Amino acid sequence: MAQAEIGLIGLGVMGSNLALNIAEKGNRIAVFNRTAARTKEFYEEAGDLKGQIVPCETIEEFVAAIRPPRPIIIMIQAGAAVDQQMELLRPYLEKNDIMIDAGNANFRDTMRRFDALKDSGLTFIGMGVSGGEEGARHGPSIMVGGTEDSWKRVEKVLTSIAAKYNDDPCVAWLGENGAGHFVKTIHNGIEYADMQMIAEIYGILRDGLKMSASEIAAVFGEWNKGRLESYLIEITEKVLAARDPISGNPMVDMILDKAGQKGTGKWSAIEAQNMGVPATGIEAAVAARSISSFKGEREAAETILGLPAVPALAVADRAAFIKDLESALLAGKIGAYAQGFAVMSAASKEYGWNLPMPTIAKIWRAGCIIRSQFLDAITGAFTKTPDAANLIVTPAFADMVKETDGALRRVVSAAALHGLPVPALASALGYFDSYRRGRGTANVIQAQRDFFGAHGFDRVDGADSHHGPWGSGLNG
Ligand code: 6PG
Repeated sequence: MAQAEIGLIGLGVMGSNLALNIAEKGNRIAVFNRTAARTKEFYEEAGDLKGQIVPCETIEEFVAAIRPPRPIIIMIQAGAAVDQQMELLRPYLEKNDIMIDAGNANFRDTMRRFDALKDSGLTFIGMGVSGGEEGARHGPSIMVGGTEDSWKRVEKVLTSIAAKYNDDPCVAWLGENGAGHFVKTIHNGIEYADMQMIAEIYGILRDGLKMSASEIAAVFGEWNKGRLESYLIEITEKVLAARDPISGNPMVDMILDKAGQKGTGKWSAIEAQNMGVPATGIEAAVAARSISSFKGEREAAETILGLPAVPALAVADRAAFIKDLESALLAGKIGAYAQGFAVMSAASKEYGWNLPMPTIAKIWRAGCIIRSQFLDAITGAFTKTPDAANLIVTPAFADMVKETDGALRRVVSAAALHGLPVPALASALGYFDSYRRGRGTANVIQAQRDFFGAHGFDRVDGADSHHGPWGSGLNG
């Protein structure tokens, strides 16, 4: 029997769907799961694709079924389980075999695993896969980090299974070691910001304009035909339109307002802070999920503090205000993506990855959770001006910021006046206003630092004098 082109360990939801996708695209695949019963069940359910699948009960059998050098995808829960799986696999592997971690790993773990295998003759790929269950089955966006040689071994099979935007496959080799998982982490950080800003706009429509879930669904449905067109807007319309089969109420009204998080948003914010790059949209989104989880505390605080006195948002022209919300969401999105790309650009220098920004935007246009036509505009902006310091100063995005920031300003002020929380949208406004102002206010901070700690400052006239006339205040 012909050997398999690739192997996959871990037949959970993502692993099974990825394996079926690989088989369907004409690649022979060997599969293994910790529990043999699951492998059997998966094979039995594979229908027409059975001929492309080699179910294996033992690791020996599994490794022997794959053509060397063997690419082996590990699709299990991120963390210690991956290290354990790698240890179990390792004794059976041969020179040039490639272990591929396709979970949502912290890129620091990926760097460590990559380094640990460096002189062993084996290689490691850290591969970000986005698109959820549906994406895994029919075409995810795939972000690959590892050696270029190991990429060449897997390029064909990964290209065959990736989502396509027009005819462009949404997969690319992004650089050595942790590059793929770092980019996937920032993808998720941006996903957090996108989702949070959508939730904030929903909050203004629900609590400010007192609209029902189905009325709000219709608004998102309209927006999905315009510049906000994206997977997240599309599913927001769908979730708002859905009815709860138990109560008959809108489903969304029956869901507890406590958001979960597995870590990738937090890692994005931490890595941004580590490099000194502002990612305020992502930070606001992570913090908002955390505050959402304090349900009991929030309810108690509402009793003690009450809600602001203005019950409903008084807008003279409702249709014009809804237009403003659309533009504000676009402006907020521009801020979050600009920050995400700035973080990747800093990381690229810090870790020597040479991350290709237009390519990253390109492979996010389809397959992944943040897919949208907006990413096509980012691809264009970074292709035309690869050396731009920030997305918002590229000609196309500078125009968009100028066009939409008035609406963002009106929406954030209206929300603030009515006590409707919009931390991510407000962070975008603060970011634009800080980033675009040539003369900021850090001169006062420098003076304060010098006053209490003699930390020194540079002068606007360049004169060689670095301390103020604070007298006894100095070091006081
Ligand atoms: C994707 C998703 C995927 C997953 C997130 C959810 O790109 O396909 O981002 O990776 O849904 O991990 O993360 P949270 O549980 O932290 O929201």
